[in-house]
Amino acid sequence: MAPASLQPSAPGKVILFGEHAVVYGRPAIAVPVTQVRATATVKPAPPGSGLTLVAPDVGKNIPLATAPQEEPLAVAARLTLDYLSAPEPDATLTVSSTIPIASGLGSGAAVSTALVRALATSLGHTLEPAEVSALVFEVEKIHHGTPSGIDNNVVAYEQPIYFVRGHPAERLTVGEPFTLLIGDTGTRSPTRKVVALVRRACNRNPAHYDALFDQMGDLADEARQAIETGNVDALGPLMDENHALLIELRVSSPKLNDLVETARLAGALGAKLSGAGRGGNMIALVENDFAEEVAEALRNAGAVRVICTRVTTTE
Ligand code: PMV
Repeated sequence: MAPASLQPSAPGKVILFGEHAVVYGRPAIAVPVTQVRATATVKPAPPGSGLTLVAPDVGKNIPLATAPQEEPLAVAARLTLDYLSAPEPDATLTVSSTIPIASGLGSGAAVSTALVRALATSLGHTLEPAEVSALVFEVEKIHHGTPSGIDNNVVAYEQPIYFVRGHPAERLTVGEPFTLLIGDTGTRSPTRKVVALVRRACNRNPAHYDALFDQMGDLADEARQAIETGNVDALGPLMDENHALLIELRVSSPKLNDLVETARLAGALGAKLSGAGRGGNMIALVENDFAEEVAEALRNAGAVRVICTRVTTTE
């Protein structure tokens, strides 16, 4: 796959099918969300000052030399310098992002991706998406604990992907572009926490959870076919089924269910929570003619932000 962009920036993402099940080896589908992005810039600093990492959105200003071991920005910077066998530069690296944090939109992966790209570019290197993805995966372990790897892949490639843990991401060809609304509950929900809850529940009743994950994996496979053949009508019911399984997995919330139901009643073809759940965002598949109506219904039902994105194949 070719890089979508050589700019030191990275998009948000949503998971269309298979969140959680993907942690347990089942397939999942994710798409980039280009309406929100993380960007990074590197400016030279006086000799001897070393690398300072600045993230104004979250009030961080961290000299790399004294950064805590587990600080994600510092981990991303150190990994990149190690990978390139480059000494610490005298520079200020600033990252900013319009992607809501802890909301299932891949903010952590996007910030790391932008940072890795900007640092590498400033040192005269252009990294391939696979290289960026592998570095960001290491940082994701801090955010997520046991990440499947889907976030770093979809964000680094900036393409719709079909993903199975431990395998290279497969790029999806979108037969017929389709429109998604992404509705934010406004409730932050750290992925690490929800993934740990699922892990505990799964350990108590593996047979039940394995069956749920199998069903989610089957839906992802069916969805892949629908996406590639341009059978958009088939996608909505598959999203509805996936949401029902996520409720059974106990990762939904009253607010998520409310927004999902609101979208359906307002004319969406299907809707589900997206990402770790218990908060964060839901997604709804809509026909273009109904997009504004459904978005309005979501806002009236309490969505703090609604993003409209078009899923298509990019070159
Ligand atoms: O970052 P989120 O909230 O989109 O969650 C990632 C999806 C999970 O399947 C829940 C975790 C993972 O590592 O794949």
